[in-house]
Amino acid sequence: MRVIFLGPPGSGKGTQAKRLQEAQGIPQVSTGDLLRQAVRDQTELGREAQGYMDAGKLVPDSLVIALLLERIQAGDCAGGFILDGFPRTVPQAEALDAALAEQGRPIDTVVNFVIDLGRLVERLVGRRVCPGGHGEWHVRFNPPQRDEVCDVCGAALIQREDDQEDRIRTRMEAYRADTEPLIAFYREHGVLQDIDALGELDTVTAQIEAVVTR
Ligand code: AP5
Repeated sequence: MRVIFLGPPGSGKGTQAKRLQEAQGIPQVSTGDLLRQAVRDQTELGREAQGYMDAGKLVPDSLVIALLLERIQAGDCAGGFILDGFPRTVPQAEALDAALAEQGRPIDTVVNFVIDLGRLVERLVGRRVCPGGHGEWHVRFNPPQRDEVCDVCGAALIQREDDQEDRIRTRMEAYRADTEPLIAFYREHGVLQDIDALGELDTVTAQIEAVVTR
């Protein structure tokens, strides 16, 4: 199963990708997570990417495409993968298509998270993440067992730099300008499946299960 999760910031891609990973036993591949790890490790890529990410801007295609194509060559992706946050531009989608066509393993389904952008600010400002990368929660919609504490390692949860309101606006603009055109791109390829991303977590999960296993 090779799946892309496409949707605006805060639409639930990461949360649902983790659930599908658990259910199907295929890895979530999140370019956001890979980039944040590179920033934590202070690699050359991480140092280059950090300014863009903190500002809520997209990291240049040249950096992200290479990172993603290398990741999906790893052994754990042989049986499939869930791409979360990639592709985000038409050049990224074209590069992915070309690489997968060469390998004879095309994308099966693109799950399009449909949601009114006005509803996303509340989701993003209430998100809290583990500084060690162990997961993320929401103060209201998906709280950790202990307030503001990571369920996995016990660290104090933090707010992502790009979850400040002004940065959220920049991310939404990037989504509209660069990522939304991918809806038409994948619809033309006949692999796009819309789901209503506004519902409760379990309702959204059920819709995704239905479209990826159809
Ligand atoms: P990335 O980490 O991919 O961020 P994003 O796309 O902005 O997505 P988010 O993680 O904010 O949202 P999500 O849809 O995963 O929602 P989530 O499940 O967390 O990218 C970060 C940055 O990295 C980019 O800005 C860019 O700089 C760079 N980058 C990454 N990939 C790139 C690429 N391909 N090209 C260029 N640059 C790239 O949910 C959000 C909150 O809502 C959570 O708190 C959750 O608990 C809650 N929630 C989820 N679902 C529900 C629900 N159904 N009801 C109520 N609450 C819910």
